[in-house]
Amino acid sequence: SSPLVVAIDGTSGSGKSSTSRGVAHRLGLRYLDTGAMFRAMTCWMLEHGVDVHDPVAVAARCHEPEIVSGTDPLGPTITVDGADVAVAIRSDAVNAAVSPVSAVPEVRARLLQLQRDVIAADGGIVVEGRDIGSVVVPDAPVKVYLSADPSARALRRAAEQGSADVEATQASLLARDAIDSGRATAPLVMADGAVHIDTTPYTLEEVVGLVVGLVEEAG
Ligand code: C5P
Repeated sequence: SSPLVVAIDGTSGSGKSSTSRGVAHRLGLRYLDTGAMFRAMTCWMLEHGVDVHDPVAVAARCHEPEIVSGTDPLGPTITVDGADVAVAIRSDAVNAAVSPVSAVPEVRARLLQLQRDVIAADGGIVVEGRDIGSVVVPDAPVKVYLSADPSARALRRAAEQGSADVEATQASLLARDAIDSGRATAPLVMADGAVHIDTTPYTLEEVVGLVVGLVEEAG
């Protein structure tokens, strides 16, 4: 049988990353954070002075950066042209620019190729993003769509970032959701066959348990 792929999609700050890493760790699977790849692409554009609001300029240069993702759920890594960008990809500048960059079809085509190469390497994998169950791995045996109340998402994300400005964090999350859901290419949607979990009332451990249960059922 082909190696297991667990597809986890959802809105910004819904708990996708923590859940995906927890599930991968518990099941001995690899982990791929596709959002980190879009963030890494965005970082490179900002560093190279590309106007991130000009889709033609972004498309023209999106084949240049070499983006490499490490898939250990206990210590995922992300490099661009050999440099570790794990911290840089979480900056406010990247938060503000990543959705417009991710809406460019050439960017998506380039990263889709890289994502499929990682997924096809040895071993099962948990893959998180916005279009994993709909576009990247539409035949994944387990698909999950995570959501949560905006205020709960903003509180969690602000706490992670050590930020006191929960309102600004919420505005930034909702702005990204609006662009991600409204774009023409591979918008954020609930994929056919996805199980929807609203994580608002649950702890992280509970959500991990629910997803592990889905994997075992599908097994
Ligand atoms: O998951 P994360 O919040 O880090 O993703 C950052 C941004 O990358 C999203 O807001 C979205 O614009 C883009 N993204 C995407 N498709 C994916 C994963 C992320 O468009 N599969």
